[in-house]
Amino acid sequence: MPLDLKSISDPSPSPPPPAPPEADGGRGRAENVRTSGEKEGGGSSPDKGAAAPFPEGEAEKDAGLSGRGYFIGSLKLSSPFLLAPMAGVTNWPYRLLAAEEGAALTYSEMVSAAALEHRGKGAVRLLKSEGTPSPFAVQLFGKDPGSMARAARAAQREHGADLIDLNFGCPARKVVKSGHGAALLKDPDLLLSIAEAVVKAVDLPVTVKTRPDVAAPAGGREPLIFSLAPKLEAAGISALALHPRFLDQGFKGWADWSMFRPLKEIIKIPLIGSGDVSSAPLALEMLKLGADFVMLGRATRGRPWLFRESLDLLYKGSFREPPPRERLAFALRHARLLHGEIGRRAVYLLRSVIPWYIKELPRAASFRDRICREEDFEKQLEIMKEAFAGAPEN
Ligand SMILES: Cc1cc2nc3c(=O)[nH]c(=O)nc-3n(C[C@H](O)[C@H](O)[C@H](O)COP(=O)(O)O)c2cc1C
Repeated sequence: MPLDLKSISDPSPSPPPPAPPEADGGRGRAENVRTSGEKEGGGSSPDKGAAAPFPEGEAEKDAGLSGRGYFIGSLKLSSPFLLAPMAGVTNWPYRLLAAEEGAALTYSEMVSAAALEHRGKGAVRLLKSEGTPSPFAVQLFGKDPGSMARAARAAQREHGADLIDLNFGCPARKVVKSGHGAALLKDPDLLLSIAEAVVKAVDLPVTVKTRPDVAAPAGGREPLIFSLAPKLEAAGISALALHPRFLDQGFKGWADWSMFRPLKEIIKIPLIGSGDVSSAPLALEMLKLGADFVMLGRATRGRPWLFRESLDLLYKGSFREPPPRERLAFALRHARLLHGEIGRRAVYLLRSVIPWYIKELPRAASFRDRICREEDFEKQLEIMKEAFAGAPEN
């Protein structure tokens, strides 16, 4: 189903961050790389992707996280930092870079259950996960319990899903108008029967990603999520991901992180927070405010290293922004991975991807214009190198 992402207004997330910590931090790649062989048959083994990148450190103890371990159902994760699903963004190269930088779980773009159960080529293409060194969550959207269950089974058996996530939070006009995504908050019984059907259909952890309610309830009443979450837990889901903006807010205003703590008090399953985490200090702040896991979304565009920074801050107490030459290396790798995947069509996608990486460089707007007009892949890369050559402290 084609998505109307224009209806998602997309401000950069930037609530006032706590004071940045001192510069420091080693970099390196995670080791347990997935292979196509590993994918066969899907299924989750408790230890898949479990190697902790760093020993537990003082920062983790200070944050009150010591000794907890990072489990979603039977799936052990290496850290609490997850790559959020983003349609049109979290394709395979994007997920690979995030996973290499330490994302403990990466999500597919949302995939139509109806398309996947019929093995639609477009849907299947979204589910590549070979070579990514972290477990893989397949996010499904749909409104028919049977179709969602069949698609979930296909995701497990044929596409190497380690976890199935159900999209009950997308506010895009086309999605909501057809009764999908966050529209299901208007029919909690149907939403629950979808969750029940999928939990029964697979032997993987099943999670739900949603918003608190359609709109802020009048008269100080509690948003729907407070009555829905315990029912979802009883239905057998393994974690709840909440983007605490109401459906009618779209992406406006701020995500209300104050919902996490009281929600945590009424469910035992892990709570995954999403919304407005734009820096490593804010990722830790969300953990302190009650989330068990933190999803990093828009802020990772052109900053896959945000996972590494969050890990460094959590385990070592400090982190370091990569210098321009390292950022350029990331951008080049991203561009080449995309080109390797889709060939010449990468030129068009790179018109949005490269600007993520160069947006803070001098004369970014004029470099962006040149990249957008360029029809040749290698020339786009040359323009990008030129942009980075003008970066201070190169
Ligand atoms: C371009 C774009 C596409 C998105 N696609 C999805 C999606 O497919 N499924 C989903 O559950 N959320 C989707 N989201 C929402 C994000 O997962 C996340 O909850 C939201 O952006 C708030 O987090 P952030 O402030 O860290 O970006 C999308 C967001 C953006 C900006």
